[in-house]
Amino acid sequence: MPEKIILDCDPGHDDAVALLLAHGSPDIELLAVTTVMGNQTIEKVTRNALAVARVAGITDVPFAKGAHRPLVRAIETAPSIHGESGLDGPVLPEPAIELDARHAVDLIIDIVMAHEPGTVTLVPTGALTNIALAVRKEPRIAERVKQVVLMGGGVHVGNWSAVSEFNIVIDPEAAHIVFNESWPLVMVGLDVTHQALATPEVAAAIAAVGTGPARFVGELLDFFGHTYKDAQGFDHPPVHDPCAVAYVIDPTIMQTVRAPLDVELTGTLTVGMTVADLRAPAPEGCTTSVAMNLDNDRFWGLVVDALVRIGDPEL
Ligand code: BDR
Ligand code: CA
Repeated sequence: MPEKIILDCDPGHDDAVALLLAHGSPDIELLAVTTVMGNQTIEKVTRNALAVARVAGITDVPFAKGAHRPLVRAIETAPSIHGESGLDGPVLPEPAIELDARHAVDLIIDIVMAHEPGTVTLVPTGALTNIALAVRKEPRIAERVKQVVLMGGGVHVGNWSAVSEFNIVIDPEAAHIVFNESWPLVMVGLDVTHQALATPEVAAAIAAVGTGPARFVGELLDFFGHTYKDAQGFDHPPVHDPCAVAYVIDPTIMQTVRAPLDVELTGTLTVGMTVADLRAPAPEGCTTSVAMNLDNDRFWGLVVDALVRIGDPEL
């Protein structure tokens, strides 16, 4: 049975790859795509999500627009990495589908409440604003959701400060809410995603697929590679967000450690840091885990396979 997921994202180059992976994987049933400000404003990332839907030929999945700013702090976007559009590089097609009329938070709640408990996985690949608002608005989703598998945070590494990761630090209060709920939560953070590098070999494997969506991914990775080199000194860009989808497809693709996790809110140097208590053994009842290692070949194999399955949809 494919895993039912809601992808909550801020496309975003790597969010776009995450969406393509989720759509193209036979092991995922994509129930909805919801957007949250982050890499760019909510208007821009929502438009980008719809453009990616067109590229991928997604016509039967609801897309809903979510939070336009963090819970407490001022909005911070990432044009240095994702450009002014949030998805600079390829030419973006005009959207072919309409947005769902509901707010993302309501769509998330409706879907989780309409499904059997323990069957819907939330996959946030942006700030955790929508997820925090959803569980505050309808607390019963905490026990109905199967698990939250998020891209964000890191144990030994940061990217937006010395110790904090972008998705967490732009809305740490939302992350704090999500990390402290009772649902099982897997943090797929920078420890793993900095291993998901789009090397020239990866780019060649994607190019060899030879379809429109594969070319689109190639153009995304090309732009992303340049900004990651200029802004963060990477030789090859880390493609973070599809790692969370890959975990849902095949949890054995990474190693996870069960550990209490929390988010720093008040440190003068460490706001947004995700703190993992790795002292063994993990306390009984601990529902949080952190991913630490990635099987890179299998990960990129999943992405390439998904692109092959998507083929060349009619635009
Ligand atoms: C995360 O931040 C965003 O810029 C990316 O899309 C990814 O979700 C990496 O820190
Ligand atoms: Ca993202």
